[in-house]
Amino acid sequence: MKLNIALLAGDGIGPEVIDQAVKVSDAVAAKFGHEISWTPALTGAAAIDAVGEPYPDETHEACVAADAVLFGAIGHPRFDNDPSAKVRPEQGLLKMRQKLGLFANVRPTFTFPSLIDKSPLKRERIEGTDLVFLRELTGGIYFGKRGREDNNNTAYDTCTYTRAEVERLAKKGFEMAMQRSKKLCCVDKANVLETSRLWRETVQKLEKDYPEVEVSYEFVDAVAMRLVQWPSAYDVLITENLFGDILTDEASVISGSMGLMPSASLGEKTSLFEPIHGSYPQAAGKDIANPLATVLSAAMMFETAFGLKDEAEAIREVVNKSLAEGVVTEDLADGGKAYKTSEVGNWLSEHI
Ligand code: IPM
Ligand code: MN
Repeated sequence: MKLNIALLAGDGIGPEVIDQAVKVSDAVAAKFGHEISWTPALTGAAAIDAVGEPYPDETHEACVAADAVLFGAIGHPRFDNDPSAKVRPEQGLLKMRQKLGLFANVRPTFTFPSLIDKSPLKRERIEGTDLVFLRELTGGIYFGKRGREDNNNTAYDTCTYTRAEVERLAKKGFEMAMQRSKKLCCVDKANVLETSRLWRETVQKLEKDYPEVEVSYEFVDAVAMRLVQWPSAYDVLITENLFGDILTDEASVISGSMGLMPSASLGEKTSLFEPIHGSYPQAAGKDIANPLATVLSAAMMFETAFGLKDEAEAIREVVNKSLAEGVVTEDLADGGKAYKTSEVGNWLSEHI
C-alpha cells in the first residue's frame, strides 16, 4: 500500500519525537511491504519565524492532499508571557483543527504492565485502566466570541454549541462504546451551563438508537475526582472541548508519564495523529524527550487512517518490549540507565 503522510513536526521537542515516529513507521512499512511518502510542512512558532503565520496555506494544502497527518507539538515560551503577541503558535493548531474539520479528538488512557508502579497513583487503583476520551475539538469556548470591553478592563470568552455539533461527536462516542464495553459517560456541567444542558438533552435523545449502550451522565468536577480515585470505572467518555483538554492531561498521569499517551483527531476526511503532550521547551534539542506518545500515535494512524491493524499491533508490541527491557528515556528511567530519544527510536525500529 502507498501511504501519503503530511509530517508536521512543529516546535520544541516536536521535531525530535517526530523523527523517531518516522523511523519506526518506515521500519514497519518495510516489514509489511508498504511505501510511505512523507511530506514535511511548517507549523507553529517555526512557521511564524519562516513565513509569519502559524498554519500557512501551503501546510494546509499538504494536509488536505495527504491520506493522514502526523503531528508533533506546537508552542514556544517566548509567546507565553507576552499577552500582547499578535500571532501565537497555538492559533496555528486551532486553525488547523478547524480548517481540517477535526471535530473528534480520541485520547485513550491505559496502563503499561511494566510501568504500573511509575504512576503516582496506587497500583490497586489504576490496574486495568483502559478508557478513552472523545473530546469535541472544533467548538465551545475555544472558538466562541471573545473580546474586551469597558476600556479594556473586562474580558470575555463565550462557549457555544449547536445541536449538530454535539450530535456528531456523541454518535462517534456511541459507536466507540459499541466496539468496546458498551459503556458511555457524558461529562458536562449541566447543573450550571446551558451548553451542557444541550449536550445532555442531545445525548439522551440518541440513547434509543443504541439500546445496548449503558449511558451515565456525570458532572465534570465529580469526574475529575473519580478519574484519579477509580479510573477503571470508566470506558468511553464524551465531553466538550475545554473539559476534554483539562481531563485528558489529568488522565495521562495514570499511565505514569505524559510522554506516553497518543491521540487521533478525526474529521470528515483527513485525520491527524499527535501525542497529547506539548512542546516541552525545556527539553528541546537535548535528545531526552520520550518519543513513545508520538510512536504510539503513528500506531493509531496505521490502524485508524489506513485500516492496517497488524502494523499498529507490531508498533505497540515493540513499544511494550522496550518498556519491559528498560530501553526508556529519563522520565521513566527511575535511577536506571536513561536512553536518548534517538536511541529509543533506533532500538524500536531495529526490533520491529
Ligand atoms: C492540547 C493542547 C492545545 C489545546 C493547546 C496547545 C492549544 O493543550 O492539544 O490539548 O488546548 O487544545
Ligand atoms: Mn491540552
